[in-house]
Amino acid sequence: MMLLAAPLVVSVYAWPARWAAARASVPPVMVSAPDLPATYNAAGFDQVVMKTYGRLQLAVERGEGCYLWDSSGKKYLDFCAGIATCCLGHANSRLIEAISKQIRTVHHVSNLYYIPNQGELASKLVATSCHDKVFFCNSGAEANEAAIKLARKYGHTVLGADVPVVITALQSFHGRTLGTITATGQTKYQKNFGPLVPGFEYVPYNDVEALEALVKKINGGGPLSGLRRKKRKVAAILLEPLQGEGGITPSTKEFFQAARRLCDETGALLMADEVQTGMGRTGKFWGYQQHGVEVDVLTTAKALGGGVPIGAMMCKDACNVFQPGDHASTYGGNPLACAAGLAVMDAFEQDKLLENVQARGDQLRKGLDAMAARLGKGVVKEVRGWGLIVGVELSADTTFLAADVGAALLEAGMLTVAAGPKVVRLVPPLVVTKDQIDGALATLEAVLVKLGA
Ligand SMILES: Cc1ncc(COP(=O)(O)O)c(C=O)c1O
Repeated sequence: MMLLAAPLVVSVYAWPARWAAARASVPPVMVSAPDLPATYNAAGFDQVVMKTYGRLQLAVERGEGCYLWDSSGKKYLDFCAGIATCCLGHANSRLIEAISKQIRTVHHVSNLYYIPNQGELASKLVATSCHDKVFFCNSGAEANEAAIKLARKYGHTVLGADVPVVITALQSFHGRTLGTITATGQTKYQKNFGPLVPGFEYVPYNDVEALEALVKKINGGGPLSGLRRKKRKVAAILLEPLQGEGGITPSTKEFFQAARRLCDETGALLMADEVQTGMGRTGKFWGYQQHGVEVDVLTTAKALGGGVPIGAMMCKDACNVFQPGDHASTYGGNPLACAAGLAVMDAFEQDKLLENVQARGDQLRKGLDAMAARLGKGVVKEVRGWGLIVGVELSADTTFLAADVGAALLEAGMLTVAAGPKVVRLVPPLVVTKDQIDGALATLEAVLVKLGA
């Protein structure tokens, strides 16, 4: 049972103030399942937890595989997966065993010492990519902070820049720290948090000419004033292989190839933010591998620990300018987080996870394309994505938003997360089964038919 039939969230990252205000009056709600708490006091929660999120009126009690149960015992098919994070689903036996064993052995010691399973996880990660070294942290934003610091140091020390500039894309999303909201090419995340961090410039995503022109403008000088009198140089181009929060927009091969060429010509680093696309979600282990274009630096988090907080920045030896003392994290790569990371890697190696993403991704895509054709352009504008990160963009003509679809799906027992006002995002656990994809397709179509009627 839902706690409240209230207007629901467009995206966890953008909760309209009027909805938040409407939710402030949510009373504690009685639920009935005998083996679960008799009440869930959402108002009590809101009294003590900062309202930085627009939470759905749903209190999750437990999970198993691709299902979650709420505090009333209602079951949901989870096509949100903790926002593309729980790659092994919920209560996964590999994760349970690995973490339980590790916490009984040693869970945290700091990076003052060698941590054997951190080294083991790093070896496995570098074997999956074109990178040589790994820095571990705890989240996607932190991984991007590490990449931005690496790029700046590289810009100063290798490229001889006074002002190293990082180019990112409009509609990107890179995190919520000051550095990463600045890297994020969407003003809604930056509003009221100025002054922002200097040294970032933006290009329209997939616009090769704009990227070429911007690199030329930065490196070629341009009108001199203030900071520009100093030597500005492009230190890095930071791109998501597929923009997640920006609306599930895959990059084009031409754009990535152009970025690679421009980096080769200027000495700048090509950096891929794979926080959402990483670890098999796109059907390749890393999203950059979709285009066969190598990147110098890669950041990841979300799926890396299957939901246990861990992030990583990986780079090639050629651009590894970090030295002891340059960067650090108390928790980064601790034994507990690395045990989770190794359990995820085991699943990839032993459970044919990547093959499952490819097969289930194809099934999902074919099903959605067929559904879109049946419903017509008046309802679905476009289906796009790679593997198991897919967006269904609603037609501009629909009277309903992705949030309304999300609300109706929730009611129907399925969880999704919007990626912008009109895009329904489907990011199930990578262990999703054929029947679960069929079930999700049927539920989504029924909901869209009902909303469109
Ligand atoms: C592409 C991308 N980069 C960075 C982040 C930030 O990750 P975190 O919330 O773990 O800091 C996200 C989160 O959604 C993301 O999708």
